[in-house]
Amino acid sequence: MRILITGASGMLGSALAFELSKKHQVFATGRSDFVTHLKYKSFDLSNSNYKPLVEWSNPQIIIHCAAITDAEFCEANSLEAIKINALSVKKLIQYVNEKVKIIYISSDAVFNLINNKSKEKDYTNPNNVYGKTKEIGEFFMLNSSRSNVIIVRTTIVGINFYRRGNSLVEWIISSVNSKRTITLFNDVIFNPISIWDLIKELDFLINCETIDFKILHVSGNQNCSKYFFGVELLKALKLNLDYIQEGSIKDNIKIANRRRDQSIDCSLYQKKFNRKLPSIKGTIDSIKKNFRNEKRY
Ligand SMILES: NC(=O)c1ccc[n+]([C@@H]2O[C@H](COP(=O)([O-])OP(=O)(O)OC[C@H]3O[C@@H](n4cnc5c(N)ncnc54)[C@H](OP(=O)(O)O)[C@@H]3O)[C@@H](O)[C@H]2O)c1
Repeated sequence: MRILITGASGMLGSALAFELSKKHQVFATGRSDFVTHLKYKSFDLSNSNYKPLVEWSNPQIIIHCAAITDAEFCEANSLEAIKINALSVKKLIQYVNEKVKIIYISSDAVFNLINNKSKEKDYTNPNNVYGKTKEIGEFFMLNSSRSNVIIVRTTIVGINFYRRGNSLVEWIISSVNSKRTITLFNDVIFNPISIWDLIKELDFLINCETIDFKILHVSGNQNCSKYFFGVELLKALKLNLDYIQEGSIKDNIKIANRRRDQSIDCSLYQKKFNRKLPSIKGTIDSIKKNFRNEKRY
């Protein structure tokens, strides 16, 4: 199958393009120039004309991973964030024919402070600009008359091997390696999935003939605190635990309005598609398996 992957210079997109290229014809795109053996086109999604991208890739499937993921940058640059995280979805839908399956990677950030274990049908009401832009992206998918559009909400953890990133895992590892003490909250809960396990689920969804759901929650099947996750990750990678400090979000006034329970309920996906999503241990094992102890971390 011909698959267009956006955000292919990013953490999820680069690993996804690499894995799917083993079985499919992958056309990868990101904003920056990116050295890869894959077919790659640098394309800024803020462009008004997507014809060059669509004509180059002529996709049967699009997996839309591109986004501005830096929540603080989104707060300060909301118009740019809307263009990339939301309007790009509208343009992709406009530019490709009805037969093209589109999978939009969305986030638990579409839910608000008081939601927890949110289900697909639950009301979204994000409390930051990043979440709002992802919610608007979802709006374009939900309001499309197409039957083959899928929103995958997830909470990914992983490493960008192609260039330095600032994801949770990379931040924990780089802090410990540079002997910098960091605080992880014992009262912020999430249910992460590794990018490599999510890729397996995306590969499964690509091959599903019909999907009767427009929104699916696909993440880990177990919750834990960020502190627990950090400690278990360092233990698994045999890294020093001395630089991880346990803290509470309540003591951090600056980010006090951040969501404490970021977990999303993935039971619908597991039940309807007979899939078993990973536990916390499974997610950490997957990071360990894929971890390369490169100096840059
Ligand atoms: N990371 C998380 O914790 C998390 C959690 C839940 C959901 N998600 C969702 O998962 C997806 C992948 O996240 P990620 O962590 O892999 O992201 P990432 O590492 O920050 O990568 C973002 C990608 O988007 C591209 N991009 C940004 N602005 C662009 C523009 N103007 N034109 C074209 N491409 C542009 C970037 O290209 P350049 O780098 O080349 O500029 C990069 O390839 C996103 O949709 C995100 O919302 C992420």
